[in-house]
Amino acid sequence: MNVQIPVKIQKLVQYLESENEISEKDLLNSIKCLDITISDVGDYLSFNHSINESYGRSVIYESSKVEVVVMSWNRGDYTSIHDHGYAQWGAVYAFGNLQNSYFKIENNILKKLSETILEKGEIAIIDNSSIHQMGNPYNKPAISLHVYYSNKNVKSVTGEARNFNLHADTVYKANGGAFLDIPDKDVVSKEKCPKFNNKVYESYIKILQQYLNKHSYNNLSGRLKTYAYA
Ligand SMILES: [Fe+2]
Repeated sequence: MNVQIPVKIQKLVQYLESENEISEKDLLNSIKCLDITISDVGDYLSFNHSINESYGRSVIYESSKVEVVVMSWNRGDYTSIHDHGYAQWGAVYAFGNLQNSYFKIENNILKKLSETILEKGEIAIIDNSSIHQMGNPYNKPAISLHVYYSNKNVKSVTGEARNFNLHADTVYKANGGAFLDIPDKDVVSKEKCPKFNNKVYESYIKILQQYLNKHSYNNLSGRLKTYAYA
C-alpha cells in the first residue's frame, strides 16, 4: 500500500521513536491526546481482506522499535490465540466493539482467564506476557488501531509471536499476522502446545469452525486442510 502515513500517526510514531524508555502510561496518554479517529486511518481499512487471513491487517508503520497496525473486523473475523513476540508492550484502541479473551500458561496448562468486550473508545493494554484472542462476534464491522513497542532494537517488534493451534497440538512461532491459518512463509519454528482443558478447546474450535465454514478446501493451508478434512 502506497499511502501517506496519517498525520496523527506520524506524531505518535515520532514521539515513540524519540524517547529511550516509554511506559505503557505514556503511550496511553499520547493516544488519548492525539484524538485519533476512524477518518485518520481510513486509507488502511481492509474489510476485503484475503480469505487466507482471518481478519484484515494493514501495517501503517514498522521499525525496530515501533509497529502500528490497523485491523478491520467483519463479523466472525478472529485472531489465533497468540502472544506478541518481542513487543515489550502494546495498546489496542477500539473504534468498535470487539471480543477480547485473555489466557495464561500455568504449570504448562493453557487457561482462559477472562472473556471481555473491548468497547468502542476503550484502549486495552498488552504486555509481554499477554496471551489473547480477539475477534468480532457482533453484527457490526469493527476497526482497531494497534501500537506495539520494544526497547530491544529487534528485527520485528511482534516477530516470532506464538500462535497456539490447539487443534494441531502445536504452537507456531510466526512473523506477520496472528491468523487462524498461519501461512507457511511466516512460520519461524514450532513447538508442542501446552495442555488445555475442554472449555478452552470448545471455544477455540467454535471460532475455528466458523472460519473453516467460510472457506473452500483450496484456500486452506496444508495444516488446516489436514484438520478440516481428516
Ligand atoms: Fe494481539
